[in-house]
Amino acid sequence: MRVPFYDIKAQYDELQTEMDRVVHEVISGGAYIMGPHHKAFEEECAALHNVKHAIAVNSGTDALRIIMDAIGIGAGDEVITTAFTFVASTETIVQTGATPVFVDIDPETYCIDPAKIEAAITPKTKAIMPIHLFGQLSDVKAIKAIADRHNLQIIEDAAQAFGCHHDGTFAGNWGIAAGFSFYVTKNLGACGDGGMIVTNDDEVAANCKSLRIHGMGRERYYYDHVGYTSRLSELNAAYMRTKLPVLDTWNDRRAKFAQIYIDTLQGSNVKLPIVSSGNNTTWHQFSIQVDNRDALQAHLKEQGIDSMIYYPVPLHFHEPYAKYGQGKGSLPVTEEVTDKILNLPIHPHLTEEQVKYAAETIKSFVG
Ligand SMILES: Cc1ncc(COP(=O)(O)O)c(C=O)c1O
Repeated sequence: MRVPFYDIKAQYDELQTEMDRVVHEVISGGAYIMGPHHKAFEEECAALHNVKHAIAVNSGTDALRIIMDAIGIGAGDEVITTAFTFVASTETIVQTGATPVFVDIDPETYCIDPAKIEAAITPKTKAIMPIHLFGQLSDVKAIKAIADRHNLQIIEDAAQAFGCHHDGTFAGNWGIAAGFSFYVTKNLGACGDGGMIVTNDDEVAANCKSLRIHGMGRERYYYDHVGYTSRLSELNAAYMRTKLPVLDTWNDRRAKFAQIYIDTLQGSNVKLPIVSSGNNTTWHQFSIQVDNRDALQAHLKEQGIDSMIYYPVPLHFHEPYAKYGQGKGSLPVTEEVTDKILNLPIHPHLTEEQVKYAAETIKSFVG
């Protein structure tokens, strides 16, 4: 039996009638940039996260970069973040001219360990950028308490946390702004790249709106900032609007598959993921840790079961970012997790049989 890691085509098969309809509507309508779907999609995302402003952009990476420009992060500033993540968060900090400062992760949540943040704060620290990894929020209450105590901004990298909340307070409400990614394989994926900034701050929202169109100000062809070309296409807004009504159902399917993994692998030699108290999870990823990870992955491949390693090498080991880290051994939890983590198929178009087969195959291999 094949167990694929993704099945994007199956999303189209499920929603074909509606997707074909809106694609035709947009193309034949002629409003390709910032049309009615773009506006409606922003409003729907803002309502979903209970925030005042949602600003659609061209990627999650752009969302983070634009937020940092909008709040004035730049040369001479330090931003505290983690090295166990996709490169975009650290990459965008470096692009602003600021310095990323890596703090280790919590071994249970894989997100920044709040207990280690204060030791990394210096007079140059301007912000904390927690990465809400794998479909649930970081320890946002503890991070917010630290940020408030030290007068720091929080920029939420919520690329993997669309629809995630802690005690009912959604991503985007814990800091000055949050950035979501709609990369194809995200729970809400675009037909290509896409992203969204959410914020409750009127001035930050105005800056972000200007920055996404070349820094254009109140009047066309008058510029307030050095900006970007980062509009979400109307086609993509329309495409994702067809997915919004089924997103909860798709996330429920992920939860059902997560439960199959948990029930099957409980008590085996596998470290299972945990959902932190007060958090929901959208199961963007289902991550296990095992000692013999590479052997398990090879075995799964032979059995037709896909798996991925998020993330195989921490950012402080990569050449462009090594200078911001303290070398091998400086982030022990991050480094151990990268050796042991394995992400299993959990997309909404699997069948229970496929997930049971994957879980049983893992169990019989690891014991
Ligand atoms: C944690 C994290 N941050 C940022 C990004 C960047 O988003 P995008 O790929 O939409 O630019 C991603 C995307 O994969 C991500 O997973």
